[in-house]
Amino acid sequence: MNHLIAPSILAADFANLQRDIEMINNSQADWFHVDIMDGMFVPNISFGFPVVKATKKHAAKPLDVHLMIVDPDRYLKDFADAGADSITVHYEACPHLHRTVQAIKQLGCKAAVAINPATPTALLKDIIADVDMVLVMSVNPGFGGQKFIEHTYTKIAEVKAMSANANPNLYIEVDGGVDGHNIAKLKAAGANVFVAGNAVFTAADQPAFIASLKQA
Ligand code: DX5
Ligand code: ZN
Repeated sequence: MNHLIAPSILAADFANLQRDIEMINNSQADWFHVDIMDGMFVPNISFGFPVVKATKKHAAKPLDVHLMIVDPDRYLKDFADAGADSITVHYEACPHLHRTVQAIKQLGCKAAVAINPATPTALLKDIIADVDMVLVMSVNPGFGGQKFIEHTYTKIAEVKAMSANANPNLYIEVDGGVDGHNIAKLKAAGANVFVAGNAVFTAADQPAFIASLKQA
């Protein structure tokens, strides 16, 4: 599978959101990455349903919704109704992860599970066959523009190895500090979906930068 690029609208200009959405529509990007933060699971609040719905209205590509919230089961249907195409929940936020994953699928969305930098990949063993995607966080979630954690390469390779038998079509997504310098090495380790926030939106020529990430 050719790898996918998912720009994070967390780094967009919210006063010019439609402009930034159109830029992504007209670029080689594959998905919109939508970061939901509740000020509880992570120490920051991002945005909620009105922004997701407004994004959906203009987005010509799937919405990849990343829930950094406690007890995400409460809101799965609302995010599906708001236009999520895939929903990612955190391993650390879901005591009944298998039930949560089934609920996401029943809503007609792709189901994904994220692990924080200090959460071992081995904990995915009994869920990896049931999900469409694993998200390996390469920063501690909560903020854009943080420094990439080098140990992520090892974790991606571990997930890739686990998926070989259990789920060969698994999307392996990496999120946090991804840029033009580390994407090729992340791809070599086994990642196939790349979230990028700051790197995309601070680029002088954003569509050209996205195209360069597609070439990595
Ligand atoms: C971090 C978010 C990321 C963030 C990535 O908590 O999950 O998706 O937007 O931003 P950059 O690419 O700037 O690290
Ligand atoms: Zn994210």
